[in-house]
Amino acid sequence: MKILTTGGAGFIGSHTCVELLNAGHEVVVVDNFVNSQKEAVHRVEELTGKTVQLYEADVCDPDAMEQIFSEHTFDAVIHFAGLKAVGESVAQPMRYYRNNLDSALTLCETMARHGCKRIVFSSSATVYGVPDEVPLREDMFCKGCTNPYGWTKYMIEKILMGICDADPEWSVVLLRYFNPIGAHESGRIGENPNGIPNNLMPFITKVAAGQLDHLNIFGNDYNTPDGTGVRDYIHVVDLARGHVNACEYAQQHSGCEIINLGTGVGYSVLDIVHAFEKVNGIKVPYVIAPRRPGDIAECYSDPRKAEQLLGWKAEKNLDDMCRDSWRWQKNNPNGYQA
Ligand code: NAD
Ligand code: WQD
Repeated sequence: MKILTTGGAGFIGSHTCVELLNAGHEVVVVDNFVNSQKEAVHRVEELTGKTVQLYEADVCDPDAMEQIFSEHTFDAVIHFAGLKAVGESVAQPMRYYRNNLDSALTLCETMARHGCKRIVFSSSATVYGVPDEVPLREDMFCKGCTNPYGWTKYMIEKILMGICDADPEWSVVLLRYFNPIGAHESGRIGENPNGIPNNLMPFITKVAAGQLDHLNIFGNDYNTPDGTGVRDYIHVVDLARGHVNACEYAQQHSGCEIINLGTGVGYSVLDIVHAFEKVNGIKVPYVIAPRRPGDIAECYSDPRKAEQLLGWKAEKNLDDMCRDSWRWQKNNPNGYQA
């Protein structure tokens, strides 16, 4: 298939491009590099020995999107492009709603004009809001999100469901990711956050590298086995492979499916710290800090639907995630900057 990846230079997009190319698909990337570097795409080419056509453009720009679609006939689109920092979305809601909603609408309008009706969308477990019970299943009612970022994912899901209802020729796969961590085994591509990381694993790797002094563990009084927050961490390469299966599924089915991409296993913050220390032989100094506002105690998936519909399940374990995250950090102390 010929697949357009929006945001294909980002963390999950770059890993997905590698897996798509390795599976024999052709890949075109559009990215405005608001949160990524061109070097990531060059490294995708280096890892696969294949060429990626890259457009530097904003997905919100209808003329730029029209140009791309007039130059290619795509079998499917994977829509990764979006702003993703939860705290920033609380401080800058208009920027998040404008970028995330506008890009999704502009993309879908351009696709419809060109008769391209297959889309795989990067949604998030954040749309489940504060869960009544875990594991989370796709048919559970989403009671509402706790921040503007989450609402953009919720709203884009609804937009894509509406498009499918109106035109049954569309095929939409809404992938709800849990907590992607890890990096490609080569250590050549990985997560490259701007400034001080918000998420746990990039923070741990910066502490391990001596770039940050210690980890703050946000609360040890949750109702969990060791009191720290429990999440469903998934290796980014497993996640990327799920997209290959989702594109192939979308080629054979129409309609809209919501699918969790997680492992189904919950690990606590302390589990992650201890596994990281053990597998890499490095100490991660930490202190127990107050709970982070908006955090929940436990969040993990029921991953069975992905296995049933996509024939996909996560294969890598927590040691792989910790080892690969550290290899990326160690080999690229300044990310993609030389
Ligand atoms: P990322 O920031 O590394 O990648 C997003 C990419 O989109 C970046 O390369 C950025 O430059 C690009 N982009 C943003 N707005 C754009 C626009 N208007 N036009 C063109 N390019 C644009 O993030 P990621 O971790 O790879 O996440 C990919 C997607 O998955 C995002 O939609 C994110 O919300 C979603 N997601 C991520 C996580 C996670 O924990 N990483 C979890 C659930 C869902
Ligand atoms: C994980 C655990 C923290 C940092 C976020 C988004 C979610 C999705 C994935 C996009 C929690 C604890 C963290 C630190 C800590 N993204 N922690 N010290 O909050 O589960 O999910 O990323 O869709 O929408 O909300 O991930 O990595 O920030 O936190 O103790 O310095 O680590 O409290 O228990 P989270 P996270």
